[in-house]
Amino acid sequence: MRIDIITSVPELLTSPLNESILRRAQDKGLVEIVVHNLHDYAHDRRRTTDDYPFGGEAGMVMKCEPVFELTDKLRAERDYDEIIYTSPDGRRYDQHEANRLSTLRNLIILCGHYKGIDHRIREHLITRELSIGDYVLTGGELAACVIADSVVRILPGAIGDEASALTDCFQDDLLAPPVYTRPAEFRGWRVPDVLLSGNFAEIDRWHDQQALERTRRLRPDLLERG
Ligand code: ADE
Repeated sequence: MRIDIITSVPELLTSPLNESILRRAQDKGLVEIVVHNLHDYAHDRRRTTDDYPFGGEAGMVMKCEPVFELTDKLRAERDYDEIIYTSPDGRRYDQHEANRLSTLRNLIILCGHYKGIDHRIREHLITRELSIGDYVLTGGELAACVIADSVVRILPGAIGDEASALTDCFQDDLLAPPVYTRPAEFRGWRVPDVLLSGNFAEIDRWHDQQALERTRRLRPDLLERG
């Protein structure tokens, strides 16, 4: 898989994309993540990627030319399955969308910008607009990191324990059951006996019951969706 991320602040993406599981997934060749600095495609003296909006409103708007110059170049090199724009008014991002994106070959993520981007980019280039929640970030870079992280970690081979991505919270619209590690008793708080029983059928049943009970209590909306 290849993910191209387009931003005017590439520094914001450096650490989240280059540590831990994302680093290892790239080193193993499971994914290639390429960050593009939009300023490299702006040709005025100050390498400007935004401009004042027509109509006199406050704030700056991302310009068409650098975005189209870069994406024309990328699209001439390979086909892209989705060109994503991160924006608070996009469709709400969730695990189902992460799963879907993880099956694709080539993605572009265009990071949103303060006031927005020239609407012609949204009309004529973007194929998917995604929001990571109902709040406003300073730009789309953190949202792009969230999307890249959640997609890459479920690529086969990205996580050491293959089973663990499948039993993630949300994978079947359920919250994950509680987990415990040693010691079996800490400050008088004991781990549930069933987990120490060695009876794996019983343990599986307990996990299922706990997942359902926690989801009912904490996120009943997930059960109503199904
Ligand atoms: N850019 C600013 N806020 C955002 C959000 N909530 N989701 C995605 N991109 C954003």
